[in-house]
Formats: sequence, C-alpha cells, structure tokens
Amino acid sequence: MRFEICTLFPEFFHSFFTTGLVARAVDNGILSYAIHNLRLHGEGRYRSVDDAPFGGGAGMLLKYDVIRKSLEATGERPVIHLTPRGRVLNTSMAKRLASLPGVTLLCGHYEGIDQRILDRAVGMEVSIGDYVLGGGETPAQVLIETIARHLPGFLTEASLEAESFESGLLEHDQFTRPREADGVPVPGVLVEGDPKRIAAWQRENALWRTWRRRPDLFARQTLADCDFDAIHGKIVTHFSIRPQETP
Ligand SMILES: C[S@@+](CC[C@H](N)C(=O)[O-])C[C@H]1O[C@@H](n2cnc3c(N)ncnc32)[C@H](O)[C@@H]1O
Repeated sequence: MRFEICTLFPEFFHSFFTTGLVARAVDNGILSYAIHNLRLHGEGRYRSVDDAPFGGGAGMLLKYDVIRKSLEATGERPVIHLTPRGRVLNTSMAKRLASLPGVTLLCGHYEGIDQRILDRAVGMEVSIGDYVLGGGETPAQVLIETIARHLPGFLTEASLEAESFESGLLEHDQFTRPREADGVPVPGVLVEGDPKRIAAWQRENALWRTWRRRPDLFARQTLADCDFDAIHGKIVTHFSIRPQETP
C-alpha cells in the first residue's frame, strides 16, 4: 500500500519509517511512501504557508493554494485529512482503508486549513481521539501503523487475532518469566499447560477487563451464556465490595 504524506515537517517521519515493523514492511515492499513538503508550495521570499483567519480568532491557517498545489503533486488518491473534527479511528475503519492501493494523508498545523480546499479535495477526515495535538504528523503515523497492521504480511495472523479489539474485547492479561515476581505468582492455570483451561482463563480475563474498563465495548458484544457465567462471580463480588460504584 502506498502512502503519500503532505506535511510541513517531513523530518517527523524519518525514524517512523526506518524503525521496527514499519521499516521491515517498507523493506519487504508491503508499504511504500513519499513525503511532500508543504513548504515547497509556500509563497514569497519566505515561502509563507499560512495566514490569519477571516473573522478573527487565534492562530493561523494553512492557505488554500499551498494545500492545492501539494495535493496536485501527489496524484490521484483518496485524500485523508487528519483532524480532531474527523471520524474517530478504530479497527474496522483501519481494515477498510487497508483494502485500498494507496491514500494521501494531509497533516494540518497551526489552527487548521482553509475549509474551501478541504471541501474540494478531501474525501475523508480522521481523528485519532478526542484531544488536540499541535500537528497532524503524529496522527498520520498512528493511522499508517494502524492500517499497516492489517496489510498481508505485516504481522502473523496469530498475533493479530489475539490483539485487543479484534474480537471486540480487550486482550487478556499476559505474563512472562519469572513465575513469581516480588511474591506475586503467575496464575496457575497458565503454567499447567492445559490448552482448553488456558483458553477459558484468557476468555474470562478478556471479558472481565472489558466489562470493567470499556463497558461501551462490552455492551456491543453478542455474548454466549457461558461468557456471562464466566464472569458472573466476579461481577457479584465487585458490587458487594463497592456497592456504590456503577460500571
Ligand atoms: C492545533 S490542531 C488544530 C485544531 C483545530 N483548531 C480544532 O480545534 O479542531 C493542528 C493540527 O493538528 C492535527 N491534529 C490535532 N489533533 C488531532 C487529532 N486528535 N486527530 C487528528 N489530527 C489532529 C490536525 O491536522 C490539525 O489541523
């Protein structure tokens, strides 16, 4: 999959594309990228890219022509603008985007971008969460890696399947050696080696973590009776210890 990235800060992407799984995917041809420096399309002696908003207000906006010229240079691809005003990124969105041959990512800066070029050229707006960062570079990296994890060959199927959100639940707790750390042992079932009991423990633990931490996710699951049976005891204990607390 091809990523064209329009940014005022190309250097932001250097370590991202040359480190870890993302670098390996680039080497293996699973993903490719080009960085387009918005500054090259700036105006005047100082290659100015921004101007004050009409109607007043704090900060500056990236100008229409700067963005237009940069997007024209990237060629024909769906353009995704990273913005806190976009649809919040999730796994199903990333899976859908991973089926495309390529996308152009537009990273904003300052207070944002002239709305007219967004209306004209942008196909989709994506937010990485309900908070505001200074620029779209970190959100673009989050989006690229989230998509890349669903590209064939980026991860093994097995490691993807167990991840949080894949089954609609948070992932179960995990432990490694030593078997006991500061007096706290690894849950016995995990070291006994019975695959059925281990799978049941992992399911129960994932259900419990999700119920406690992400009731919104839990509520969306279609669960079997045995799932409720698995965590029923924990829920009862939870409310008997903290009767005032609601999940
Ligand atoms: C300071 S922010 C602008 C925020 C904008 N004035 C607003 O209130 O919606 C500058 C740039 O950072 C990026 N950005 C900040 N937070 C983001 C988020 N949660 N998701 C995606 N992009 C974000 C966008 O590209 C945005 O144009």
